[in-house]
Amino acid sequence: MKFKKKILCIGAGYVGGPSMAMIAYKCPDYRITVVDTNPDRIDAWNSPELPVYEPGLDKIIKKTLGKNLFFTKDIENQIKENDIIFVSVNTPTKTYGAGAGMAADLQFVEKTARQILKHSRSSKIVIEKSTLPVKTALAMERILASGKGKITFEVLSNPEFMAEGTAISDLENPDRVLIGSHETKSGLKARAELIEIYARWIPLEKIITSNIWSSELSKLVANAFLAQRVSSINSISALCEKTDADISEVAKAVGMDSRIGDKFLKAGIGFGGSCFKKDILNLVYLCSYYSLQEVAAYWESVVKINEYQQERFTANILKNMFSTLTEKKICILGFAFKANTGDTRESPAIYITRKLIAEHAEVIISDPKALKNAAIDLEGTKGNVKYIEDPYRAVAGCHALVILTDWDLYRKLDFQKIYNSMAKPAFLFDGRNIVDHRKCFSIGFNVYPIGKPALSHFKT
Ligand code: UDX
Ligand code: UDX
Repeated sequence: MKFKKKILCIGAGYVGGPSMAMIAYKCPDYRITVVDTNPDRIDAWNSPELPVYEPGLDKIIKKTLGKNLFFTKDIENQIKENDIIFVSVNTPTKTYGAGAGMAADLQFVEKTARQILKHSRSSKIVIEKSTLPVKTALAMERILASGKGKITFEVLSNPEFMAEGTAISDLENPDRVLIGSHETKSGLKARAELIEIYARWIPLEKIITSNIWSSELSKLVANAFLAQRVSSINSISALCEKTDADISEVAKAVGMDSRIGDKFLKAGIGFGGSCFKKDILNLVYLCSYYSLQEVAAYWESVVKINEYQQERFTANILKNMFSTLTEKKICILGFAFKANTGDTRESPAIYITRKLIAEHAEVIISDPKALKNAAIDLEGTKGNVKYIEDPYRAVAGCHALVILTDWDLYRKLDFQKIYNSMAKPAFLFDGRNIVDHRKCFSIGFNVYPIGKPALSHFKT
């Protein structure tokens, strides 16, 4: 079949895979190829067990794979063949040198730009899809412009705003699509080509354009604002625990103000995921770089509160279990950084589990999708850790139940059955406020929610 356009994506991760699958699904006359330097990733996309768990993704892959969506290892030839190239490689926090622990490590982006330059035989549109520090496009442009031939590259910024766990509905029905470009003739032409792709399924009024730098910065700022709301409500949860206020009631009352809105006001054990911390630190670094120390400190506090919330939660477990966890069995329900994903990157569960192990607790981890990743995250951690998917089997004989991910299935558990199988006194630490605390208390649990008074059977 002759395809109208040929699109390549470099980077077959959580962003590249699902976003390209959606374009392939919505544009059957476009040929989409996804490549990755990791051959195992490519094999996994071509196998029945996809490398990322995302509700609804398997259906879309089934409809497109081998028809107009291809995952291949041949990066060189694919760069030659395609006219539009999305770059969706990872941009982790730098662990060395200047900006270590803060700045984004751009080595993969730069390597990818050099690869594109080396193998291109015709002019191309190169689209940044990875979240990048402001002015990265400029660096990419400079590398791409260093070739001697007549080939030209137009760089666009098109950050992805989808969230994991809801990636497919976010991609299908986004709040907005943002395209940053130069306001030159070739920049506007490239922008129009990208708009044409998204306009296949997204109303034009939701496709917004800006200059490249605004586009790059908007993505960092959107994540920083979302994370800031989570840290704000978590900071207030600490205050609620000291008073008779209830964080859910406060969040409801505050969120019903239409100027504030009710989203991202759920108190918990702190935000995780590959983006929030990385992007805020990046913003902090950028502000420091431009000597905006006050602005940098403001945003850095969002990350500090997030760490504080995890420390607070762990200290609370220790304190309430008579200040010793040695040889106590603790069941962790949920290791993914949020529900509906197997992703555990920056999951608060990693920190909390390590702390419990350091107190010599025996930890049993349960999660419907993230056990494989949990085992990788805890590799090398010395201690007694078991992985059991079935929550009822996992919790049997435990002294405490600790809920760390808001999986729906945990709301529906038979807590009487669970209580009966546990060591007594039985403790329940609900790090997501998802279960019926009064009911669990009446069953016999000592219940410790976030930002609400504890329900304990002990006389004080
Ligand atoms: C990543 C970043 O975390 C995010 O900020 C950015 O917006 C997009 O890229 P994600 O897709 O979740 O998001 O990352 P990951 O699942 O690690 O996927 C990146 C892929 O790029 C990996 O499969 C990696 O093997 C691949 N890669 C990396 C390349 O193909 N070439 C490289 O040079 C480096
Ligand atoms: C985020 C952004 O939402 C998305 O737009 C961007 O493209 C990538 O980063 P993601 O990290 O996948 O997406 O998930 P998100 O739903 O934002 O949750 C992030 C973390 O915040 C999770 O750990 C979640 O549990 C936590 N969270 C979220 C809360 O603790 N409370 C809330 O009210 C909302």
